[in-house]
Amino acid sequence: MQKVAIIGAGRVGETTAQILAEQEICREVVLIDIREDAPQGVALDIFQTAPFFEFDTRVTGSNDPAAMQDANLVVVTAGIPRKPGMSRSDVLDTNVKVIDGIVADIVRFAPDAIVIMVTNPVDVLTYRVAQLTGWSRERVLGQAGVLDASRMAAFIALETGFSTRDITTIVLGGHGDLMVPVPRFCTVNGVPISHFIEPDTIDEIVQRTRGGGAEILALRKNSSAYDAPGASVAAMVDAISHHRNRLLPCVALLDGEYGERDVAMGVPCLLGNRGLAQVIDLGLDDAEMALFRESVASVRADIGRMTPPD
Ligand code: LAC
Repeated sequence: MQKVAIIGAGRVGETTAQILAEQEICREVVLIDIREDAPQGVALDIFQTAPFFEFDTRVTGSNDPAAMQDANLVVVTAGIPRKPGMSRSDVLDTNVKVIDGIVADIVRFAPDAIVIMVTNPVDVLTYRVAQLTGWSRERVLGQAGVLDASRMAAFIALETGFSTRDITTIVLGGHGDLMVPVPRFCTVNGVPISHFIEPDTIDEIVQRTRGGGAEILALRKNSSAYDAPGASVAAMVDAISHHRNRLLPCVALLDGEYGERDVAMGVPCLLGNRGLAQVIDLGLDDAEMALFRESVASVRADIGRMTPPD
C-alpha cells in the first residue's frame, strides 16, 4: 500500500503511525491534526526512529486536510476521548460534529480511500461515515473487535499461563459494556478454553473484557488506552495492505447478517485489499444471539440520538 492518512495525531494516531512505519506496512504515513505544529512534531519524532528500526516508510505531519490527497486508506482517530466515569456514548455529541467535518474532507481529498473509524463511540460513528459518504460497506470499517479480542486473549493468557500466540478469541457486538465475547469460539490452539478454565472464571474473563477499556482508563487516569488500540488498527491496515484475507472482528455495516441491517456492529470480517470482502455469519446460539441483539439495541439507540446529516 502506498499511502495511509491518519486523522488525529493523539496517542492512538501516534501509536498506529509508529507501528505502520516500523513494520513498513505502507510506503507513506501522513498524520493530520488541527493542533498547530503537533502532527509535524509527532511525525518527525517517529521518523527519527527509522535508523533503529530500519524502515523506509516516510512519516509526515500536516495541519492541512489536503495532505490526505489520494490516500489509499484513511484512519480516523480524531475527537475527544472519554474521561474516567464517562461511557463511550457520553462523547457522542461532540465527536459527531468532529467526524462530520472530517468526512467532508475525506470525500473531497481521498474519494477512493478505505476508511477505518476509531473514534468513539466507534460503531455509531462508523455508521455515520457510511451514512454521510454513501460508500459501499467494503470501504467503511471500524476498529473495535480486534482490540477487544486481544484483551480477552491477554486475560486468558494471564489466567492459564499459555502463550498469547496460541490463543484465539472472538468478541462481537458494539464496543461498549454490552459487547459480546463468545467463549465458545475461543481456543488455545484449537482446544476450547473450557478445557482449561472453569465456567465461573470464564464469566469473569468475559466481564473483564467488557470493561477492558474502562480498566485501563481508571488505572492511567488521564488517558484512555492507546498501545493495544494502535496495534489493533495496524493489524487491520496490514490485512488490507497485504491482501491477507484475514478473519478479524471489525465494525461493519450489516446487510441481513445476524438478522440485522441498517446498523454497524462488530462482526467477524474477511479483510483483503478492497477492504471488507465478506461478513461471516457465525450461527450464534439462542443465548449468544440474545446478547448480540441487546448490544444492537444500544447502538441503535445512540444512532437515533444523532441529528440526521444535512
Ligand atoms: C478502549 C477505548 C479507547 O476500549 O474505546 O480502550
